[in-house]
Amino acid sequence: MAAHKLLLLPGDGIGPEVMAEVKRVIDFMNDRGFAQFAIEEALVGGCCYDAYGVAITEDTMANAKAADVILFGAVGGPKWDGVPYDQRPEAGLLRLRKELGLFANIRPAVCYPALADSSSLKREVVEGLDIIILRELTGGVYFGEPKTITDLGNGQKRAVDTQVYDTYEIERIARVGFELARKRRNKVTSTEKRNVMKTGVLWNEVVAQVHRREFPDVQLEHQLADACGMQLVRWPKQFDVIVCDNLFGDMLSDVAAMLTGSLGMLPSASLGEVDPKTAKNRALFEPVHGSAPDIAGKGVANPIAMIASFGMALRYSLGMGREADLVDQAIAAALAKGLRTADIKSDGTTVIGTAEMGTTIIGEMERLAT
Ligand SMILES: NC(=O)c1ccc[n+]([C@@H]2O[C@H](COP(=O)([O-])OP(=O)(O)OC[C@H]3O[C@@H](n4cnc5c(N)ncnc54)[C@H](O)[C@@H]3O)[C@@H](O)[C@H]2O)c1
Repeated sequence: MAAHKLLLLPGDGIGPEVMAEVKRVIDFMNDRGFAQFAIEEALVGGCCYDAYGVAITEDTMANAKAADVILFGAVGGPKWDGVPYDQRPEAGLLRLRKELGLFANIRPAVCYPALADSSSLKREVVEGLDIIILRELTGGVYFGEPKTITDLGNGQKRAVDTQVYDTYEIERIARVGFELARKRRNKVTSTEKRNVMKTGVLWNEVVAQVHRREFPDVQLEHQLADACGMQLVRWPKQFDVIVCDNLFGDMLSDVAAMLTGSLGMLPSASLGEVDPKTAKNRALFEPVHGSAPDIAGKGVANPIAMIASFGMALRYSLGMGREADLVDQAIAAALAKGLRTADIKSDGTTVIGTAEMGTTIIGEMERLAT
C-alpha cells in the first residue's frame, strides 16, 4: 500500500490542540491498517514568524506542493497584531491558497441530530440538514484590480474594488458543483446578482452553458444571492449544493455555518485543478474557525471541526469514502452519547475537554469498524 503524504500545519492558538487529536486519529488508522499515512509537520502563521520571520517558509511551500493533502489548523492571535502586513499570520494561508491554485472552497453545513437544539433556528428547520456551500476562492472582488483608495483632494476619498470573473473561472467552479451534486442529491443552486451586476449576468450564462453541455442530468436552479440568503434561513433543506462567487460565498457560508450550531463543528476543503497527468488535485483541509486565543492552552477546544476536516480529506482527496463515513459516524455517535465540549454544551449533557473528545471519537471508530 503506497503511503499518502500528509502535511500537517497546526498553526497558532488552538490549532495545535485540535491537530493533536487528528494525529491520534491518523495513528489509529495506521495501526489498524485502514491506510498508510506518512506525516510531515511544519510551522505556519505567527509561530513561524517568531521562528523564521515569515508566515510560511519556502521549504514548507515546497512540501505543500509535494503533499497529497494539507491539513491546516488555524493561525493568528493578538501577539502578532503588530507584525508587518506581508508577514501577518494569515499571509501564510493566503500564499498557500494562491500558489496551489485552491479555487474551490467546499463548506458543508451538516446539523447532527444531537445538536439540532443548539441552532438559533427551530429544530424542524435544521434537523438532518446536510448542504454544501461551494465558494469560488481565488477570483472576484477580493482580488480584482483596480483596488484603490484615492484622495480626491476636496476632503473626499474614493474607494474602488473591482468584481471581475473570466469564463474559465466560472466554468471550473460550476463543474466542481455539478460533480459534487452528482454524488449527493443531484441539485445545484447557482447564485449571483444578474439583476444589477454584469459579473452576475456572465455567471448565470456560463453556469447554464456548463449545465447544458456537460451535466444535463443534474437539476440546476438559479437564485439571486440576496434571495438565497433569505431562503437559507427560511428553509435550508431545500438546497443540496449552492455555488457562489467569492464575496457572496463568504457571506452565505457564514449564514449556513450558524444553522448548525457552532463554529467548532465546521470543516472545510479548498481544492485546486485536477492535474491531467496524475488525476490528482492539490487540496487543503481546515476547520472554519480561527485560533480562538480566548480558550487557547486550556484543553477545552472542540476538535470536531478539525477531525471532520480530515474526514473531508479522506473523501475528497484520497478516495476513502468508506473511512470518511466512519469518521462522520463516530463524531455523530460521540455526540449521541451526550458528550460535549463547552462550546456545544446543553442541558443534560456532559462537558469534556479536547483530548477526551478525541478519545471518544476514536473509541467510536473502533466500535463501528468491528
Ligand atoms: N483560517 C484561520 O486560520 C482563521 C480564521 C478565522 C480567524 N482567524 C484568526 O483567529 C484569531 C481569533 O479570531 P476570532 O476570535 O474572530 O475567531 P475564532 O474562530 O478564533 O473564535 C470565535 C469564537 O469561537 C470560539 N471557538 C472557535 N473555535 C472553537 C473551537 N474549536 N472550540 C471551541 N470554541 C471555539 C472562540 O473561543 C471564540 O469565542 C484572529 O487572530 C483571527 O485573525 C484565523
